[in-house]
Amino acid sequence: QRLGPAAAPRLGFEAVPPSRADTLVVPPGYVATVLAPWGDPVGLPARMPAWRPDAGNSAEDQAAQLGMHHDGLQFYPLEGSSRHGLLVLNHEYTDEGLLHPLGTRPDSPQGVRKSQAAHGISVVEVAWHDGAWQLVRPSRFARRLTARTPFGLAGPAAGHRLMRTAGDPQGRTVLGTLNNCASGRTPWGTYLAGEENFAFYFSGGDRLSADQKRWGMARQGFYPWAAQDARFDATRHPHEFHRFGWIVEVDPMDPASMPVKRTALGRAAHEGAWVAVTRDGRAVVYSGEDARFEYIYKFVSRDPIAPAGRGLTAAQANRELLDHGTLHVARFDADGTGRWLPLVHGQGPLTAANGFADQGEVLIKTRQASDLLGATRMDRPEWLAIDPASRWVYCTLTNNTQRGQPGRPDVDAANPRAANAMGQIIRWQEDGDFDGSTMRWNHLLLAGDPGNTRPEARGDVRGDFFGCPDGLLFDDRGVLWIQTDAHAAQMNEGEFARIGNNQMLACDLSTGEVRRFLTGPVHCEITGAAMTPDQTTLFINVQHPGEPPSDVSRPDAPQQYSRWPDPAGGRPRSATVAIRRQDGGVIGT
Ligand code: FEO
Ligand code: CA
Ligand code: CA
Ligand code: CA
Repeated sequence: QRLGPAAAPRLGFEAVPPSRADTLVVPPGYVATVLAPWGDPVGLPARMPAWRPDAGNSAEDQAAQLGMHHDGLQFYPLEGSSRHGLLVLNHEYTDEGLLHPLGTRPDSPQGVRKSQAAHGISVVEVAWHDGAWQLVRPSRFARRLTARTPFGLAGPAAGHRLMRTAGDPQGRTVLGTLNNCASGRTPWGTYLAGEENFAFYFSGGDRLSADQKRWGMARQGFYPWAAQDARFDATRHPHEFHRFGWIVEVDPMDPASMPVKRTALGRAAHEGAWVAVTRDGRAVVYSGEDARFEYIYKFVSRDPIAPAGRGLTAAQANRELLDHGTLHVARFDADGTGRWLPLVHGQGPLTAANGFADQGEVLIKTRQASDLLGATRMDRPEWLAIDPASRWVYCTLTNNTQRGQPGRPDVDAANPRAANAMGQIIRWQEDGDFDGSTMRWNHLLLAGDPGNTRPEARGDVRGDFFGCPDGLLFDDRGVLWIQTDAHAAQMNEGEFARIGNNQMLACDLSTGEVRRFLTGPVHCEITGAAMTPDQTTLFINVQHPGEPPSDVSRPDAPQQYSRWPDPAGGRPRSATVAIRRQDGGVIGT
């Protein structure tokens, strides 16, 4: 197995120790600056409402401000610059106790509207100015996509009978995107975001169908939107549910372009999507769904990526690239090989007799189709990262405490630990090219603390140990950056006692060494990672400091656990952070 070029040690920073402090810590010689917190205006020329620390901003204000709970992010240089570009980031979900002035859950039309406006995606323009990264406001690129923004539907499930609703009889336009978790950047300059836990928003009532149960719909949604926005009442509008769970594509350079849900990539509780390119120029999109015992997918485009030209940008020239191709689901076999099983209507069990009328229905019911194909049920696949040099593909399997428990699937070679609290990173190399139908796989590492008594919680990390890998990034030097998301309920307790707050680490693949680079404030998750082309700025997101969800109306509420990023300001805020070396050098060297 190839670990990467055996070069001189490539991690040049001093490791930071595990932390329980309510602050962000970076190595000596580095500076971290809060750049874009929840509630700051994105810079729409027509509307730039200032952040109100009492959460008094209206739904209309929130729709012009950065949303809550920052997750995946990408940097798009303007004219190749490492000092000026666009940041595009996801707002995965909301903490209703912090979002509303009285700490109440949204049970009014205005409350639901504000909650919907705090979801989605932001585009902000950023520039290095006077020795610091700043938002450029107003900006003609600034944009908010929320749970109410029109999205086009494209690919085989667009217009499908199961996608038609009272509000959209053609089944071709959806209002909004939800629970956008990780994100990827395409070679043609667009942004791909997953729609992860979309089931939380729908209320299914007392008679849930087998399909609704398979997708995790509950009697009442975790977010009580259904009473104010009937789209989310699945007893009245059952098809709306099918219109979420897709990969969405956004062209950040064209603020007037309509974002699109790409149904050819399948419907799933998608964490995100990451693109590799075959030697003959076709796009291969890897994705997984972060849910216990769900799957890893790859889509292979039919056509090669088109170059920009004839008056079209690359994004415009590839407007239909992800609408034609073949989706596959992964099976990891015990002998270290694996197979990509095509999710194609009419092949194998994917027939009308088994409930799949056509390809559109295979894609709407990707989980059920994958069940029938015998794909491997994984330990919550989160981010993927592709090493362009070695052509290995890495995927974090964050944890699965139900693995091997009574009535639940047993351990297997790819998911080898019962009651898997710590997670692992699996990787594979395709046979032939990225479009190969077979692969060879192994584990980069099993996460955990070697000092734990329970063998399943120890892991085999060389260097600084950690739990619950989630975000991943390959930098241009081939260093694999790992971000963690241990749940607040377990952080710094029990088997996590020595691991500390969630963090970001670097892995030198030539030696396997893992070194801790950053620790986050209390009860946050570290997620989202992007570097400038010159690798001198690293942007990350600090998500949900102070979780679990809090209620400011209660003085003893858990939000008291964190006041990051403003110790004096009270309300904790998710935020994008820019990290640089004081000497302006390359991050990590
Ligand atoms: Fe939204 Fe799977 O983390
Ligand atoms: Ca995640
Ligand atoms: Ca996670
Ligand atoms: Ca999270």
